[in-house]
Amino acid sequence: MSKKICVIGTGYVGLIAAVGLADFGNEVIASDVDERKIEGLKQGRVPFYEPGIQGYLERNVNSGRLSFTTDQGRGIRRAEVVFIAVGTPGQEDGQADLSLVEQVVEIIAANLNAYKVIVCKSTVPIGTNRKIKNRLKALLKAADREAEFDVVSNPEFLREGRGVYDFFHPDRTVLGCESERSRQVMTDVYRTLNLISTPFVWCNPETAELIKYASNAFLAAKITFINQMANLAEAAGADIHVIAKAMGMDGRISPKFLHPGPGYGGSCFPKDTQALVKTGEAWGVDMSLIRTVIEANEEQKMRMVRKFTGLLGGDLTNKTAAVLGLTFKSETDDIRESPAIKIVAALLKAGARVQAHDPQGMANFSRLFPEVKCCQDEFEALAGADGVLLLTEWNEYRSLDLHKAGNVMREKIILDTRNLLDPREVRAWGFVYQGVGRGEAPAGQ
Ligand SMILES: NC(=O)c1ccc[n+]([C@@H]2O[C@H](COP(=O)([O-])OP(=O)(O)OC[C@H]3O[C@@H](n4cnc5c(N)ncnc54)[C@H](O)[C@@H]3O)[C@@H](O)[C@H]2O)c1
Repeated sequence: MSKKICVIGTGYVGLIAAVGLADFGNEVIASDVDERKIEGLKQGRVPFYEPGIQGYLERNVNSGRLSFTTDQGRGIRRAEVVFIAVGTPGQEDGQADLSLVEQVVEIIAANLNAYKVIVCKSTVPIGTNRKIKNRLKALLKAADREAEFDVVSNPEFLREGRGVYDFFHPDRTVLGCESERSRQVMTDVYRTLNLISTPFVWCNPETAELIKYASNAFLAAKITFINQMANLAEAAGADIHVIAKAMGMDGRISPKFLHPGPGYGGSCFPKDTQALVKTGEAWGVDMSLIRTVIEANEEQKMRMVRKFTGLLGGDLTNKTAAVLGLTFKSETDDIRESPAIKIVAALLKAGARVQAHDPQGMANFSRLFPEVKCCQDEFEALAGADGVLLLTEWNEYRSLDLHKAGNVMREKIILDTRNLLDPREVRAWGFVYQGVGRGEAPAGQ
């Protein structure tokens, strides 16, 4: 049976969930405190870049199954299921900031007019779903009201840039759920995924919460592992691509997340690894592995700055650096914790001028760095540059016209932090080239 659903928060996770749940046949009201966002959505405008979402938005709005509101109370009162999908950013000390989740819980309590399942999709530390449950009970008691509800932890695993595909084809759906009644409701909500045999992991809320953090921390560690191997390969004359390929042939390892680069970034891995360390501290359990991953990842970004500086003769004062790619990965406009932020800040601090290009991330980036010249295309960014840093794996940079690039640059120097280009071809065009982990055997051996 289809359900009446309210999704609170229309960011990357909430909006994709809202269009996806509507596409499953549910009746969805999506709400946000950001009036401009909701106004735009009512007019069919997606507030961020995510491939494939526009068509789903139009289809489900036109069918009448999906609507938008800033009136959260109305959305909640009409709903049988309320999804929380607001942000849980990292705080200065690394802990997850749960204040937005807490605000939403207050609003839910005030509008709990019949049995509802409250589903937390936001990434929250162990114990948060139980706290939500207890807080709702306390708020109802304080208001001298009675209403039945269940709280379900349903962490999200989508990847930005592939978010729509991931919503419809998840590797697994995790549901931390403690009552048979809420289990039945969630089975109805996700019946389409059931039909395509998506594995469902039913567990308690604490387990669901930790599955999310453990998964992200593991992937962050895998990236960091291959980055350190790449650094060693580079020093010792080995080729990280062959190493990663051979490692990946081992079924126990898998080839995914074995691509070296400038360090991981994004809205999840950095804050979730930090929060996991804090959770470990709170429970008196050592998370030294994850702490090391965080440190090594920061070091990887600075390593890129040192390599680039070295390529440009050791001093960036008054040099012009071209930066291609600002987002933390391709196919998104999200620059949250992108390696480009720390790397560009270091280049500027060292006295360089920065000319940048990104297919989708420039509007967000220029709000943070008004002093960076954001360029219409890659050649405008390369014009007069003393060197270029390739920071994001956008497809269009893989096929960079090297002849044209060489003609517009002052010095033909490339630091390819994503290993997008073929070193032999680049060098054949007269460039000085460095990638990550693409070592050459020591001379004479
Ligand atoms: N972005 C991802 O790839 C991803 C993947 C998996 C999990 N997550 C997790 O999902 C959660 C949401 O992430 P996101 O990237 O979608 O965040 P986001 O910042 O893109 O979106 C959050 C939205 O919530 C809205 N909001 C804030 N306070 C609100 C309130 N009180 N009521 C209603 N709306 C409110 C904001 O205006 C914003 O539109 C986070 O916990 C994140 O860790 C994100």
